[in-house]
Amino acid sequence: MANILRAENISRIYGSGDRAVSALRGVNIEIPKTSLVVLRGRSGSGKTTLLNILGALDRPNTGEVLFDGREIVSLSERERDEFRRTKIGFVFQSFGLIPYLSAYENVEFGLRLAGVPLDIWKTRVSEALDWVGISKRASHRTHEMSGGEQQRCAIARAIVHRPALILADEPTAELDSKMARQVMMVFHRLSREWQISVAMTSHDTASMEVADYVFAMESGKVVVERTSSEFLA
Ligand SMILES: Nc1ncnc2c1ncn2[C@@H]1O[C@H](COP(=O)(O)OP(=O)(O)OP(=O)(O)O)[C@@H](O)[C@H]1O
Ligand SMILES: [Mg+2]
Repeated sequence: MANILRAENISRIYGSGDRAVSALRGVNIEIPKTSLVVLRGRSGSGKTTLLNILGALDRPNTGEVLFDGREIVSLSERERDEFRRTKIGFVFQSFGLIPYLSAYENVEFGLRLAGVPLDIWKTRVSEALDWVGISKRASHRTHEMSGGEQQRCAIARAIVHRPALILADEPTAELDSKMARQVMMVFHRLSREWQISVAMTSHDTASMEVADYVFAMESGKVVVERTSSEFLA
């Protein structure tokens, strides 16, 4: 199976001397194309640290990250910035929407960052809002939407420039179980219908049920917990 992303021998040490923390200790992970991957593990096991490195928000002390075959750790800051804005969509626990903008404007912001030509903005934004099921909320500001609607708006913003990979850090943690399920279904459909891979962290077992792969992190290492073959069996 082809991978959208492969990371090899990743280590990350925060701080130095006797305050040094080894957050990642030789992580190997592969994210297959068009799959939904859930990373689980207790608090402090290194999930956020790993996602930040996979998305070029942070650099590891050792190791390589290959995105569609291209090594990204050794790129310049400028190239990494370009990579992030065009190839990745980020989704966060607390949504990260801009409060005084409407849902429409928040999604449009994703296009601005990615440098998508102006003449297709309107089509793209409408399509993304429609696709996550919040077209009717297009003119609503963030406080005029439910948590689930805000998170779906954040997903629309993350996919509007058609990235190859969504990285989502505990995207369902602040949602009740019904809204969390809606968000998981959006991610599932993204992997199937838009061929976008999703790698997300979660503590909640319901999210893991729709995942193609579940990886567990323990003390800075990753082990495969369940794959899609078991899923289908
Ligand atoms: N900026 C930092 N400086 C020093 N140590 C850090 C920093 N960020 C994280 N750590 C440490 O690195 C380890 C991994 O942290 P990380 O945030 O990746 O865990 P996590 O699995 O995402 O946890 P959670 O489930 O609580 O979000 C922890 O021991 C944490 O204390
Ligand atoms: Mg975390």
